[in-house]
Amino acid sequence: MTTIIIGGGIIGLSTAYYLSLLEPELAANHQIHIVDSASDLLLSASGYAGGFLAKDWFNPSVSSLGALSFRLHKELAEANDGSKKWSYMPSIAYSLAIDARGVSSSQSGSDDWLVEGNTRAGAAPTGDGAERKEMVNADGTPAWFTKQKGGTLELIDGEGGCAQLEPKQLCQWLMEECQNKGAKIHTNCFATHISKGEDGKVMGLKMKKDNETYDKHCKNILVAAGAWTPRVFSKLFPDSKLRIAIDPLAGYSIVVHSPRYSKPILDPTRHGEHASAGLSHAIYCAPTEKWAFAPETFSRVPADGKPEIWAGGLNDSAMQLPETADETPALIDKEKSEELRSAMIAMTGLSHEGDDLAVDDLKIKREGLCFRPVSRSGSPIISKVPESTLGRGIEMADSGGVYIASGHGPWGISLSLGTGSVMAEMLTGRKPSVNISRLMLK
Ligand SMILES: Cc1cc2nc3c(=O)[nH]c(=O)nc-3n(C[C@H](O)[C@H](O)[C@H](O)COP(=O)(O)OP(=O)(O)OC[C@H]3O[C@@H](n4cnc5c(N)ncnc54)[C@H](O)[C@@H]3O)c2cc1C
Ligand SMILES: *[C@@H]1O[C@H](CO)[C@@H](O)[C@H](O)[C@H]1NC(C)=O
Ligand SMILES: *[C@@H]1O[C@H](CO)[C@@H](O)[C@H](O)[C@H]1NC(C)=O
Ligand SMILES: *[C@@H]1O[C@H](CO)[C@@H](O)[C@H](O)[C@H]1NC(C)=O
Repeated sequence: MTTIIIGGGIIGLSTAYYLSLLEPELAANHQIHIVDSASDLLLSASGYAGGFLAKDWFNPSVSSLGALSFRLHKELAEANDGSKKWSYMPSIAYSLAIDARGVSSSQSGSDDWLVEGNTRAGAAPTGDGAERKEMVNADGTPAWFTKQKGGTLELIDGEGGCAQLEPKQLCQWLMEECQNKGAKIHTNCFATHISKGEDGKVMGLKMKKDNETYDKHCKNILVAAGAWTPRVFSKLFPDSKLRIAIDPLAGYSIVVHSPRYSKPILDPTRHGEHASAGLSHAIYCAPTEKWAFAPETFSRVPADGKPEIWAGGLNDSAMQLPETADETPALIDKEKSEELRSAMIAMTGLSHEGDDLAVDDLKIKREGLCFRPVSRSGSPIISKVPESTLGRGIEMADSGGVYIASGHGPWGISLSLGTGSVMAEMLTGRKPSVNISRLMLK
């Protein structure tokens, strides 16, 4: 049997990965094709996201999928050296609150910098040596985050409940693994029509690549095209009354290197085998006068070993989704990326006590823009599309089906592995291992 996955972001790749792990007898007869309209994979959200993972920050309809996904991320990283290959690390998450005093007063004192409820304060470095002291403040907070006037960091979740990774590197690993097992990737390739056999039943897709058209037989079609999912669906099923309620939300991001984060931060509570395990930090900031949006910053250590800080949170809901992900960089608004850059400097630039503005001593690694697929329900759609809704006279051959996995909004990295494994179960006729009934199309 053949499955065509439309969209090679983290959702399509996770599904292909779990499909490629099928029992050998099944796998021998199962071909996987990933079709993507961009000139390369990961020019989209999955290549630019922050990579924050949560265990139980989800609404009830997604909670069991969220927990499964969180566990799969940990297991996959432990079994495949994910901490080195894609910066998988447990995380400590803080939220920054800035009181009015901090905004209006020009006085800054060390009392402004309070860390409340920090259970890790007791684990602050003592015998860890100078290296850790350089990177971590005495209260356990990361030195890469600059003190904010009137700022209070509150611990919102700890190691058991959140983690971080470098999403593009996880995607690249998933891609290589499924290619090694025979999956084929077709870039610059658009699915244009469904194709029908003599009996009138759907038996494949017509595709266009470099002005040439191809006809590919398949049993199952999975649309996992992120923010482009509604477009792909209505192109293939123009008579369908079904409206896939997913909207694009453009988001800027920036990645920098900081002198205050030049070495990985190790977890002082770990010993033995895991003694070298890295620890990452996430800081969610409330809007202030300095920055009107709510920036978020995550630290991580990608495969090149050079610690980096990612920041995002500046969105543009009016921005139209381009035809392909290749055209996204051309949409970058200089003013907006400048605004995010100055938020990054305020949050992580060099500052001395009493300074009003932090100094830019950061090195920009990259700046980016991408589109989140935001579902109107607030939960992703992970579903077979009921055949009766595909349009008049459309019937699938060989008991195949059309499936959708999209609309993960700000949580597609966190929910990726759970989504991929559940989707692989559905595509092979097995019972999903978590109850996703509330994510299905009726
Ligand atoms: C700034 C930002 C920060 C984020 N941070 C986090 C985070 O910290 N944690 C988290 O869990 N999530 C985060 N997210 C959300 C996460 O990135 C997304 O939910 C996730 O990447 C969506 O993956 P996807 O595979 O559905 O879509 P995408 O990654 O967008 O992939 C879709 C693919 O479909 C392809 N495609 C488009 N049209 C067609 C077509 N016609 N035919 C074939 N292929 C097509 C595209 O080229 C693309 O490769 C963030 C998102 C943004 C924007
Ligand atoms: C496709 O066809 C158009 C119009 O005929 C042409 O301009 C373009 O260069 C072709 N592209 C490729 C990749 O062959
Ligand atoms: C930007 O979008 C993200 C994800 O949807 C959201 O968490 C964040 O609050 C948004 N920021 C603003 C300023 O709207
Ligand atoms: C799955 O959840 C739905 C709604 O939450 C519930 O009605 C249904 O009985 C559950 N199914 C199983 C198999 O537990």
